[in-house]
Parts: sequence; C-alpha cells; structure tokens
Amino acid sequence: MRVIVVFESIWGNTERVARAIAVGLERHAPVELVTAEEAPMLLEPYDLVVVGGPTHAFSMSRPSTRASAVQTRNAPAAVSRGIREWLGEVCPVFYPIPAATFDTKVVTPRLPGSAAKAARSELRALGFDVREPSTTFRVHGYEGPLVDGELDRAEQWGVALGALAATTVSGDHGDGESSLA
Ligand SMILES: Cc1cc2nc3c(=O)[nH]c(=O)nc-3n(C[C@H](O)[C@H](O)[C@H](O)COP(=O)(O)O)c2cc1C
Repeated sequence: MRVIVVFESIWGNTERVARAIAVGLERHAPVELVTAEEAPMLLEPYDLVVVGGPTHAFSMSRPSTRASAVQTRNAPAAVSRGIREWLGEVCPVFYPIPAATFDTKVVTPRLPGSAAKAARSELRALGFDVREPSTTFRVHGYEGPLVDGELDRAEQWGVALGALAATTVSGDHGDGESSLA
C-alpha cells in the first residue's frame, strides 16, 4: 500500500498535525510526507492520499493570505505553493483513489469555512473517493500552539484512515459508507 500525506504550514502547527497523522498511518504502511511545494502532480501510484493545510480567510490559503501573514504577523517566509495551487495542478484520476483532508483552525473565535472542506471538494472534482469526512484540528491564535490533545487525535485519525485504506486495498470495498464519521 502506498500512502502520501501532502501538507502546507506557515507556523508549523499543520506540519506537526501532518507528522502525527503519518505516525498513525505508518502502523499500516510506509508514508511519504511532503509539502505542497514538493508534492507530485500524478497521484495514480498511491492507494491513499491525505491533504491538509491551515484555514485562511474561511478556505484554503492563497498567495495573498500567506503574504499577509508575513507582512502583518511576522510569519516566516511564505511558501511558494500551498495546497490550493497544488490541487490546481494535480492530474485527474481514472480510478477513485481514497483521499482524506484535514485543516487547522483557531479555537476561538469559532469561524465558518474550512480549508479541509474546500480541498475535499477539489479532490472530489478530480475523481478521488472522498467519502471520509474532513477533520479540523484547533490552534490557539494564528501562530499556535495546538490545543492540548490534538496531536493524539491526529495520530488516532491516521490509524483509522490507514485501517480503512488497507481494507480497500485488500479488496473489501465495504458498503460505500464512511466508517470514520
Ligand atoms: C491570513 C490568515 C487568515 C486566517 N483565517 C482564518 C479563518 O478564516 N479561520 C480560522 O479558524 N483561522 C484562520 N486563520 C488562522 C490559521 O488557521 C492558523 O494560523 C493556522 O491554523 C496555523 O497553522 P500553521 O502553523 O500550520 O500555519 C488565519 C490565519 C491567517 C494568517
């Protein structure tokens, strides 16, 4: 089973979540953990694709929101390609490869919108099997840190996703309903 986790992160919170998810997934299969800047456009070789990024302005980040983080909040240098731009270049798939998405959001105030839900819609349009619900992990303030317990939750989510993908690869495709809801 081949698994890839693609992430984007400015302050490192989403990266820490991505790493924890990868630890959980690795109970089932080796994981390639890559940034959106490094990620391949061709995903046909993978049996599970996991994508995550920070929620900016109610959705996936844009070059303008990343630039604003640098200018107004002293963020480290902005990444040149976030998950939005990467998904815009990913090749459609002919077989519905399982995919799941996650994001990070501030714990307070509770704002609408989600990078993970936006990424999930993009993956669906590209032909991926996105029956798993997207998941949000919470941070304190824009810079973090993560809320206590979120890394454990991320690892457990990775374990559950990996188990599901292993079942799919082994040929038991189930009844089409999510088992992570
Ligand atoms: C320009 C900008 C816009 C943001 N908009 C939202 C938002 O709409 N909703 C939200 O919950 N968090 C928002 N945030 C907070 C980010 O979600 C938070 O910075 C991110 O989860 C931290 O992850 P990172 O360390 O991986 O960059 C925003 C942050 C920035 C810089």
